[in-house]
Amino acid sequence: MSDKKIIAVLGATGAQGGGLVRAILADPNGGFAARALVRDVNSDKAKELTKLGVEVVAANADDPGSLVRAFKGAYGAYCVTFFWEHLSPEKEMTQARAMAEAARINGLQHVIWSTLEDTRKWVPLEDNRLPTLHEKYKVPHFDAKGEANQYFAQLGVPTTYLLTSFYWDNFIHFGMGPKKDQTGVPAITMPMGQGKLPGIAAEDIGKCAYGIFKQSREYVGKTVGIAGEHLTGDQMAAAFTKVLGQPVKYNAVEPEVYRGFGFPGADDLGNMFQFKRDFQEAFCGARDINFSRKLNPSLQSFESWLDRNKNRIPQA
Ligand SMILES: NC(=O)c1ccc[n+]([C@@H]2O[C@H](COP(=O)([O-])OP(=O)(O)OC[C@H]3O[C@@H](n4cnc5c(N)ncnc54)[C@H](OP(=O)(O)O)[C@@H]3O)[C@@H](O)[C@H]2O)c1
Repeated sequence: MSDKKIIAVLGATGAQGGGLVRAILADPNGGFAARALVRDVNSDKAKELTKLGVEVVAANADDPGSLVRAFKGAYGAYCVTFFWEHLSPEKEMTQARAMAEAARINGLQHVIWSTLEDTRKWVPLEDNRLPTLHEKYKVPHFDAKGEANQYFAQLGVPTTYLLTSFYWDNFIHFGMGPKKDQTGVPAITMPMGQGKLPGIAAEDIGKCAYGIFKQSREYVGKTVGIAGEHLTGDQMAAAFTKVLGQPVKYNAVEPEVYRGFGFPGADDLGNMFQFKRDFQEAFCGARDINFSRKLNPSLQSFESWLDRNKNRIPQA
């Protein structure tokens, strides 16, 4: 263990960080060891990691000192923030700044920052194609991550900026699974028109991140994007129909309609989908599937992910 390079993993009990921890564990001779950063070392998920032999350390992204302590002696870190826990872009930026600062203080050699586009570079605040939200953002949970890139860069932290994609797991956990429409046929609803949505199995994000760490420092200072496939709503509905063995439709609502759905963050997600629909070339172009497979040879397609997870899709 002592000669292994330690990767401190934020969100180790969650989707992205958990995938990275499992990828490191699955490769015992790979030269890396995961250090799981959790808020509560006694939670069930933390105890499961301890049982698997993972070093589990208490840290809270809201407590900069705890991050400094938790990064001590590590080679690298996987940094991710948790927008959907609080819906605050400012809090995300504060947490990211604390992560970058802790990495600098400890002289980490390689940090992966899980980021997304600052959409204001494509749609400035005065551009009304997307409504401005909270006075300062177009897609708050994207813009905050993109804006936070600067903290890592300005502090000179050797960072790979990892552009992630829509998790297909949102069809299980995020209330986006097929729901019966007025004709009684299950439908997935997204304001993407006929645009392609880059998506990925959440588990594959961690595997790709592991691929980046394994390539030594080749991707330090670079922005890399990952996706499992780029699919239209109709293509995803066709895969649902095939795998679930019952018709599933794609309901392409307008972004205004989606923004008005009323659940917390609906306006943010409506803008997000519209951005992805209207800036296809840039958004899909930044997420190369062959490159993702190079990092992670077991990268899943949507259909293979769905087939493995079909029993976890909530019944419409
Ligand atoms: N859903 C998507 O399609 C998608 C796509 C791209 C990017 N994202 C982004 O992914 C991010 C979330 O990552 P995820 O999906 O991997 O998260 P997740 O599965 O929701 O898990 C997050 C984990 O982080 C830990 N955590 C939460 N607050 C923390 C804090 N203050 N300090 C330290 N740890 C904390 C929690 O672990 P403990 O309870 O053990 O501390 C939790 O298990 C969001 O910012 C979201 O915008 C989502």
